[in-house]
Amino acid sequence: MDIGDEAQSLVLSNSMEFLENVALAPYTTFKIGGPARWFAEAASEAEVLEGVEFARERGLQLFVLGGGSNLLVSDEGFGGLVLRLGLLGIKRRFEEDCLHFEVGAGEGWDEFVSLAVAEDCAGIECLAGIPGTVGGTPVQNVGAYGQEVAETVVGVRALDLRSREFVWMPVEECGFAYRQSLFNTTERGRYVVTQVEYSLTPGGAATLTYADLKKHFEGWDRVPSLREVAGAVREIRRTKGMFLVEGDPDCRSAGSFFKNPVVDLGVLAAIEASMPEASMPAGVAVPRYPAGDGKVKLAAAWLLEQAGFGKGFGKGRAGISSRHTLALVNRGGATAGEILELSGRIVAGVETRFGVRLEREPVLLQ
Ligand code: EPU
Repeated sequence: MDIGDEAQSLVLSNSMEFLENVALAPYTTFKIGGPARWFAEAASEAEVLEGVEFARERGLQLFVLGGGSNLLVSDEGFGGLVLRLGLLGIKRRFEEDCLHFEVGAGEGWDEFVSLAVAEDCAGIECLAGIPGTVGGTPVQNVGAYGQEVAETVVGVRALDLRSREFVWMPVEECGFAYRQSLFNTTERGRYVVTQVEYSLTPGGAATLTYADLKKHFEGWDRVPSLREVAGAVREIRRTKGMFLVEGDPDCRSAGSFFKNPVVDLGVLAAIEASMPEASMPAGVAVPRYPAGDGKVKLAAAWLLEQAGFGKGFGKGRAGISSRHTLALVNRGGATAGEILELSGRIVAGVETRFGVRLEREPVLLQ
């Protein structure tokens, strides 16, 4: 059945359309997944409330969709209401030496980064080229190339589905950690983020801490501008298939499919001891980043490669990107089942080889 053609019957409420049986694959970067039983777009907070009421009255589960860039939808789709957030608007306010931007959840993230960089405001230039919408950034504490949004978010405005009131959550209450916030852990499903406030630094210097970025600017006799750094990040992401290019199979993904695991130093030592000398000549180390508290963060991509899951792995429609080992890709017509089967094989293979259990990074909607 062509679900797209079925998406006809609609119920009109005051201002919103609630569509039935809407194919979700086109709303995701993976381009995978079945239909939503109900689907609506909210362009304002009033419409968010309306969507929530619609779901409540019918006893439907609610799923809030942003840019669909960190999402794998199951082949069966979703039996509840998918509410796509389209809240727009950017307001600026000076506070001390910083410029605060209050940004609607539906604004495109990369467009917002470009705007901030064009206005010479530092703080998110390394997060250029990331697909998705602003509302998703605090949920998984988006991070890349030496920055994460936890460093610039002042607070989040959200609908609390428990009290049905809009609340302001200052950064201290957001529970930010690596790829984590209270929105995707302890309070998962409780809040609908409608606006995010960032504090950026006018005239500030770019963050140049990530190895790939430093290498890019090696030999420069001046400090690169925010625009140059954002451009370099987009360039690096492009080489890794992490910058969306329509029609490129390496881009039909949800970015990194696994989180970089944070492990005890003992686990690192065991991995080091288990590596054959030939693959670890003098001066070559197991890639790791300090994670505080006697812990280290390992490079999941490296673990995959050592366990036999390298770039281009997989013969079928689901495979590993040819440009970055951490991205599982839909080479064309892959099902969620195929992606999950591949992911299961990888998790089992890495666990058998290294005793480290990888966690999925994208959200699974089923
Ligand atoms: N590596 C490989 N093979 C690869 C790629 C990487 O072995 O194909 C190893 C190398 O040792 C490399 C290390 O992994 O030095 C780190 O690679 P990279 O700089 O590409 O970063 P990553 O750890 O694989 C993380 C984020 C990305 C983010 C980049 C850049 C996670 C799960 N992923 O990837 O975020 O863009 O750093 O900061 O933390 C995403 O979350 O979807 C995402 C794309």
